[in-house]
Amino acid sequence: MLMLRFLTFLFIGIGIFGTITAVEISEEWWRDSFIYHLYPRSFKDSDGDGIGDLNGITSKLEYLVDIKVSAVWIGPFYKSPMIDFGYDITNFTGVDPIFGTLDDFKKLTSKAKSLGLKVMLDFVPNHSSDQHHWFQKSIKRIKPYDNYYVWADAKIINGTRQPPNNWLSLFQGTAWTWNDERKQYYLHQFAAAQPDFNFRDESLNEEMKDVLRFWLNTGVDGFRIDTIPSLIEDTRLLDEPRLPNTGLPDTDSDTLRHIYTYDQDETYDVLKSWREVLDDSPGPKKIFLTEAYSSLADVMKYYDYGSNIPMNFMFLGELNNRSTAYDFKRKIDPYLNAIPDGQSANWVVGNHDRFRVATRFGPKRADQLTMLAAVLPGVGVIYNGDELGMENRVMTWEETVDPPGCNAGPLRYKTTSRDPMRTPFQWDNSTSAGFSINNKTWLPVHPNYKTINLAAQKLTAASHYNVFRRLAALKKNPVISKGTTKLVVINDIILGVIRRLPGKSPIVLLINFSDGSTHFDAAFSLNIPDKMSVYAASVGSHIKVGATFDTNRIELPGAASVILKLKSR
Ligand code: GLC
Ligand code: MG
Ligand code: CA
Repeated sequence: MLMLRFLTFLFIGIGIFGTITAVEISEEWWRDSFIYHLYPRSFKDSDGDGIGDLNGITSKLEYLVDIKVSAVWIGPFYKSPMIDFGYDITNFTGVDPIFGTLDDFKKLTSKAKSLGLKVMLDFVPNHSSDQHHWFQKSIKRIKPYDNYYVWADAKIINGTRQPPNNWLSLFQGTAWTWNDERKQYYLHQFAAAQPDFNFRDESLNEEMKDVLRFWLNTGVDGFRIDTIPSLIEDTRLLDEPRLPNTGLPDTDSDTLRHIYTYDQDETYDVLKSWREVLDDSPGPKKIFLTEAYSSLADVMKYYDYGSNIPMNFMFLGELNNRSTAYDFKRKIDPYLNAIPDGQSANWVVGNHDRFRVATRFGPKRADQLTMLAAVLPGVGVIYNGDELGMENRVMTWEETVDPPGCNAGPLRYKTTSRDPMRTPFQWDNSTSAGFSINNKTWLPVHPNYKTINLAAQKLTAASHYNVFRRLAALKKNPVISKGTTKLVVINDIILGVIRRLPGKSPIVLLINFSDGSTHFDAAFSLNIPDKMSVYAASVGSHIKVGATFDTNRIELPGAASVILKLKSR
C-alpha cells in the first residue's frame, strides 16, 4: 500500500514536469476496453409503453458490468418530435418524457458510477429539430438566432424558384427546403425536420458549448459526436460533382461527391473548441468519440483536434462477407500504421445505422469481428445485441418508420431503412423478449427471440454471450494492451493475428475465411509454440474452451475463428 502511494507520488511528480506520459495514459480509462453502444428506445422498457427508457437502462446496468464493458454510450434521449427517433432535438438539455426525466438520468449515472461504469452521451451538433425555438426564431430573423442555421436565397430559373444548388440530403432528395415566411431555403443534410446549424456563427457555437457543459455537470464521462463531417459547408454553394454510373436514382446522395458538404477543414477547429470545454471539466479525463465515414487521412486528423476515438468503421463498410484474409490484412495494417504515437486504435463492430454484424457477415461469422476487435490493439465498440448475435429483422413497407427508409419508397426502402437493426433487445423468451410487458413494441421484436436471447445464452457454454465476456476480459491482458501485433495470411484463406510480449504467452487469433474445413501448420507460419490452449472459439465451431491444439496440424472448421494462448501463462 505504502509502495503504491509512493509510486503514485513519484508518477505525479514526474507528470508535473511533463517528462512522462505514464500518468496521463493511466488516466485514459477507455484504453483497451470495450465500449457498449446502447440504443435507448430498444434496450429496456420500464413503464410498458413499448418504448425503451432511462429507468429501463438503469435496471439493467448490472448486465453491462457482467459483460465487462468499461463504458456505455447512450443514444439521444433529449426532447424530440422523434422524426429521426431522437436525432431531431427541440431541447438539447432536456429529457423527453418518453424516456423519463432528468432525475431518472441522474439516478442512472449515479448507479453507473457506483458500479464503476462510465457513461457517455450522444452529442448531436449538426442540426436541431425544425420545432426547436431557435429555428422558429431564426425564421423570423430574431437576433441572435437569425444566423444560427444555413439559409440561402432561391435561384430563379425561367421565372421559377429553385434550390440554391444540387446538394442532396443523406435521407434522399434535395437538401434544401423553402420557408415561405423567411422567403429563403434552409439546408438539411438529413431530414427536412432537421435544419443544419451554421457553425460560422459564434453565438451558436457558444450555445453548443453550453450543452456540453450542462451534461458534464451531471457527471458524464464523454460524448460521441454525431455526424461531425457534416458540420460545415462551403459558403460558395457550388454544385457538387456527380459520380458516374452509380446505378442509383438522382435523388440519392451517394450519387454526388461531397466535396462541399463533408470533411471541410474548418470542422476540425470547431472540434478543438469543444475539446477545450472537456479539458476544463474537473475529475477523470473526458472523451470524445467521433462519427466520420471519411478517408483514413481525414479520420486520423481527428486525433490532432481532440477526438480520442475517431471511430474506425472498416468492419461496417469496407469489409464484408466476401472479403478475403488478404482484404482484412490490407485494411488493418495501414490503419494500425497510421495511428499517431500515443493514441489508441479502435474497432467498431456494429451500430444503429448499419446492418447487424450477424447479418452482414452471416451468423457463423458473428464472433469473428468481435474477436478481431478484442485481439487487435485498442478499443472495441459494440452495439447492443451484437454480443448475443442478434440479427436484422426484415420489415415490410407498412412496418417501416425510419425516415431514410420511408423517403426511399416501397421499392428501395430495404437498402436504406435502419429499422431492421433497431429492434428490441432480446432478454429472454417471455412476452416481447422480456423487453416490455407490452406485446406491442415500437418496432416488432425479432421472431428468433425464442432461441436467441440472453437468458438462454447464459445457460449455454458455447454462446455469443459467453464468448463476448471472455473477449472483454482479454482486453485487460497486458499482451493485448502492450504487445506487438502481426497479421499473417496462411494458405491464402486463414488470417492469423499474433500478439506478443516478452515473458508472456503469445495470443493468437486464427480465422478461417473459407466455408470449408481447412488444415494448416500455424506453428511454422506464425512461429508459435507447438501446443496451445483454446481461450475462445466462435459459436458453431464446436471447439471447446480449454481444448489443446497441436499448432503444427490444425484443422479449423469452415467460417470458424479461435483464440489460442498458453494455459500456464
Ligand atoms: C448519425 C446518426 C444517425 C442519424 C444521423 C442524423 O449518422 O448515427 O442515426 O440519423 O446522424 O442525426
Ligand atoms: Mg417506456
Ligand atoms: Ca452541417
